[in-house]
Amino acid sequence: MPDRKQAAEKNTEQSHVEGRYFMRFTQAQRTLHAILFTTFLGLAATGLPLRFSESIWARKFASVVGGFGAIIFIHKLCAVVLTLAFLIHVIDIFKRALVHHEKGIFWGATSMVPNWKDAKNLFGHFRWFLGLGPKPQFDRYAYWEKFDYWAVFWGMIVIGISGYAMWFAPFFAHFLPGWALNAVLVIHGEEGLLAILFIFSIHFVNTHLRPDSFPMDMVVFTGVESEEEFRSKRAQEYERLAVQGKLEARISEKPEPWLVNFCKVAGFAAILIGLVLLVLTLSAYFKE
Ligand code: HEM
Repeated sequence: MPDRKQAAEKNTEQSHVEGRYFMRFTQAQRTLHAILFTTFLGLAATGLPLRFSESIWARKFASVVGGFGAIIFIHKLCAVVLTLAFLIHVIDIFKRALVHHEKGIFWGATSMVPNWKDAKNLFGHFRWFLGLGPKPQFDRYAYWEKFDYWAVFWGMIVIGISGYAMWFAPFFAHFLPGWALNAVLVIHGEEGLLAILFIFSIHFVNTHLRPDSFPMDMVVFTGVESEEEFRSKRAQEYERLAVQGKLEARISEKPEPWLVNFCKVAGFAAILIGLVLLVLTLSAYFKE
């Protein structure tokens, strides 16, 4: 093991050159994330006025966009686009694992599946918060990134199935009793609110507002990060790629200024809309 460590240190030092950028997310992953966040914002912005249709802002919003019929239409349109993006993602995972036999999708350092090391990192992080130990080092995905991913994955299944059951209620009534169709409305509404609260508070804080990334982590928008960011945020991944001699393959161009500016505007707009929806959700919920 010391040999491996020494080789990693040597490789890491040799390969560290100021001003380099590394690819983290491919164009396809960034496109799917962009579709995910725009349709999610659309679903949240239309789901809330449906859920709190008596509130003044819901009625104002409805009168601006052409009535509650238009709101339902936009909600369903966003739902179909989001469902397609979700299916593309799931099919891609299975294709990479089963057809291309890509290693590390369901287990290991590059997998989204939580493992023992995530539990150790979680406890290590709390120890570090309390000043009782060193800051843990992370690999490709940190435990909170996996948590956010599975929260959305699970949420998509629950919200999607209940949403389509409401949409095509006469069809589902062939298999489900009447009470189940009523339950579906409650499940969809409450899970929708939970998703809005989760994404616009925990996900925003975890990803953008923590000190390492404040005020916004641009990597999911531009796809690349500087070498300094890579080494400080994902030291174990950097070291692992250096040992395997795969670091150079990830070197990428510095993002163009127009792209960075565009991503900043789009990202801040999304965060702002999200925070407004969060405030509306909380205020409407507590007034009920
Ligand atoms: C595949 C995804 C989805 C589908 C198919 C879907 C479908 C629907 C349908 C058919 C309705 C009822 C509209 C009506 O009143 O006629 C509805 C309501 C609603 N949706 Fe969705 N939706 C989806 C995703 C989401 C998401 C991601 C959210 C949250 C961000 C959300 C939040 C809501 C809320 C809060 C309501 C109002 C529920 C109530 O009245 O209590 N939906 N949805």
